[in-house]
Amino acid sequence: MERLAAWLEAWEAALDPRYPERARPPAKVLGYGEISTVMVIDHPDLVHFAVKRMPMFRSEAEVRAYAALHETYLTHLARAGIQVPETHLVPVPRGERGWAVYILQRRVPTQSLAHRLIHHLSLEEGLRLARAVLDATRRVFAYNAQNPEGVAVGFDAQIANWAVGNVSANTGGLPSSPALLYLDTSTPLLRRQGREQLNPELFLRSAPSFLVWIMRLLFLEEVMNRYYDLRQVVLDVIANLYKEKRGEWVPALVDAVNRWREAWPEFKGAAFTVQEVRRYYRQDAFIWRFYLAARKLDRWLHHLVGREYPYMLPAKIER
Ligand SMILES: Nc1ncnc2c1ncn2[C@@H]1O[C@H](COP(=O)(O)OP(=O)(O)OP(=O)(O)O)[C@@H](O)[C@H]1O
Ligand SMILES: [Mg+2]
Repeated sequence: MERLAAWLEAWEAALDPRYPERARPPAKVLGYGEISTVMVIDHPDLVHFAVKRMPMFRSEAEVRAYAALHETYLTHLARAGIQVPETHLVPVPRGERGWAVYILQRRVPTQSLAHRLIHHLSLEEGLRLARAVLDATRRVFAYNAQNPEGVAVGFDAQIANWAVGNVSANTGGLPSSPALLYLDTSTPLLRRQGREQLNPELFLRSAPSFLVWIMRLLFLEEVMNRYYDLRQVVLDVIANLYKEKRGEWVPALVDAVNRWREAWPEFKGAAFTVQEVRRYYRQDAFIWRFYLAARKLDRWLHHLVGREYPYMLPAKIER
């Protein structure tokens, strides 16, 4: 790992975040997140990893705090019965420009990624997969409910955050008991005695400076709280089917979840309706589209005054 860290430091130093495909060796972007960009770097020791790059750290102390929290988050997920692929966190100094963190996560086959897989499944299989995802999610919330150390973990269960470990390349379809792997650990939301441990400034840094105040005011708390509330997490999972272009499953999933939740003592709140899901999705899609446009404007402003813009942005979000 140490040799790899030195190698990544040199790679990062030469990287132009606008053109990862022109880096040497090149990187291919697998996914753009709100705080991380997930890449495959064409290097013999790295090709088996999904490399998640987060360039926003200002000091080594910040990196250390994040690394410790990330480790704690993984420990609690494991205790809650959530499986995560092998993961290494690599701090990467960026000279005057602060620090990056690279999370190296063992890469799973593309066909096992749940948001890819759903396009090859029948509705019946899709509901079975959703059931497995929600059962795993409930384990996290059950864990939160009884945790003696006063810890609660925030959890983003949307379909793009999962892979099915035991999917078979040749037969396709969904195994009768899907072995789920959880991929998205780069936002380690964790509360201790009710207090959030993840520094929200890390999100705000990648936001355009002209929006920071309004985000602080309007979104930040809402977005960070969302992941501690089972009903909202489930709503987010259902609504995300629109983004993943499986919106035609929404009515059936709403019905199914409304049936399932009657046997979930920890579930609080009303039944879901398709209308509610649509409204939520439209709002969410608007926010992220607007936010991406603002970040692009911000990137342009940075270039105009000759300042480094360290984040990678997608051309557009497919919805
Ligand atoms: N281990 C992995 N193997 C293969 N592909 C992966 C892996 N981890 C992530 N990906 C791909 O990258 C996408 C985004 O990954 P992830 O959910 O970890 O980050 P994110 O949601 O983009 O980031 P953030 O939490 O920072 O907003 C996934 O939906 C998946 O397509
Ligand atoms: Mg994700």
